[in-house]
Amino acid sequence: MNHSLSIPALTEDLSRVLIDADTIDRRVNELARKISADYADTDGTLLLVGVLKGSFIFIADLARKLSVNHVVDFIALSSYKGDQSGNVRLLMDTRENMENRHVLIIEDILDSGNTLDYLIRNFRTRNPASVKTAVLLDKPDRHCVPITIDYLGFTIPDVWVVGYGLDYNEKYRTLPYIAEMFPQA
Ligand code: XMP
Ligand code: MG
Repeated sequence: MNHSLSIPALTEDLSRVLIDADTIDRRVNELARKISADYADTDGTLLLVGVLKGSFIFIADLARKLSVNHVVDFIALSSYKGDQSGNVRLLMDTRENMENRHVLIIEDILDSGNTLDYLIRNFRTRNPASVKTAVLLDKPDRHCVPITIDYLGFTIPDVWVVGYGLDYNEKYRTLPYIAEMFPQA
């Protein structure tokens, strides 16, 4: 991919590029190859469920590299920030039926684990054939709930990151790279 003409510069909020666009692209390719191989012999169409909004770029890139039949769906959640109980609320459900289907949850980042824990439990009640997870970024220092990530992009330190779908108050989602922010006051 040639990004050389228009790589957006870091602004004063951003301390450094943590993962550049080419590195992301190579890793997403690897994940897509692994997922395609793993699901090649399963029955039915793979159901990808992207968690809005943060996963929208990751799911778009990943899905277009898959060589297995798949459909794309989305779910939207809200978590009560600052609430240690891990309360997660469903804002918009999927449209597809999960019964007897292989479901792959596509998430931007694993932090406390509350979001994925909620989703995995919720989806298992819908009698899918299987539920697995593909997560672009993992912050292992932040986990409160144990979660198995089946397909992981990158492990990162406990810093706030933006770009490639991730935001800070809706800013920076469409940066082509993942950048680290300076700690906010
Ligand atoms: P939990 O704690 O449920 O959180 O695993 C997952 C959600 O937290 C958000 N999150 C971030 N978003 N930069 C972001 O833009 C970050 O560094 C970050 N850390 C956590 C995100 O919505 C994720 O789905
Ligand atoms: Mg998210």
